Amino acid sequence: MSTAQDPPASAAVPPACGRTDRLLELDDGAPPDRLALRRAFGRFATGVTVVTGRGAEPARRPVGVTANSFSSVSLDPPLVLWSLDLRSSTRAAFLEGGWFAVHVLGARQAGLSARFAAAGGADKFDSIPWQESLGGLPLLPEALALFECRLHQAVEAGDHVVLIGRVLRARYREDGAEEPLLFVGGGYRLPGAAIRSPERAAA
Ligand SMILES: Cc1cc2nc3c(=O)[nH]c(=O)nc-3n(C[C@H](O)[C@H](O)[C@H](O)COP(=O)(O)O)c2cc1C
Repeated sequence: MSTAQDPPASAAVPPACGRTDRLLELDDGAPPDRLALRRAFGRFATGVTVVTGRGAEPARRPVGVTANSFSSVSLDPPLVLWSLDLRSSTRAAFLEGGWFAVHVLGARQAGLSARFAAAGGADKFDSIPWQESLGGLPLLPEALALFECRLHQAVEAGDHVVLIGRVLRARYREDGAEEPLLFVGGGYRLPGAAIRSPERAAA
């Protein structure tokens, strides 16, 4: 039973000393404040990938987009996911082509990320080195990790489609010589110092 002293369900958490939190109410049917929501989502630091694929026959044009929505899903069977904006010029190619390759970018590949984040039209593969996988996927060199996937499931969710892929081949740099490229708060970052392993941090 609620009492007069109970705060309303939507009350903001009292800010900690010297800290200001912004609260977004998203349940009233009004369109969300996109910028503020983007800022909230952007507090979550991610790596950066370039996902490549090929359109359906007959053109089978190579396509690619920068994506930070990548996540591993399952070890057995090996599944990964990423989500693609429904407005992307590559949507039909990824959905109809049925295959994609995820390149996990290293710290020196911010330029490649910017190239593949540019709006479609220009050929993003012009004047950069790439080669074809045995199955015909466009592969970019020097990724920290590479996952060649068959499209397993596509789930439309809001303004994106979630593409789940069955990993048929995975490759990664074993030497750990290069750091990953990070993305947080709308900008690229390099990793800082390592802290502790999850096991030790939990202890
Ligand atoms: C760091 C970063 C991450 C991005 N992540 C995604 C993503 O996960 N999904 C997506 O659809 N677009 C993402 N984008 C935007 C797309 O890369 C961009 O809209 C797309 O490449 C535009 O080309 P297109 O018109 O051919 O789709 C991201 C952009 C940047 C810079």
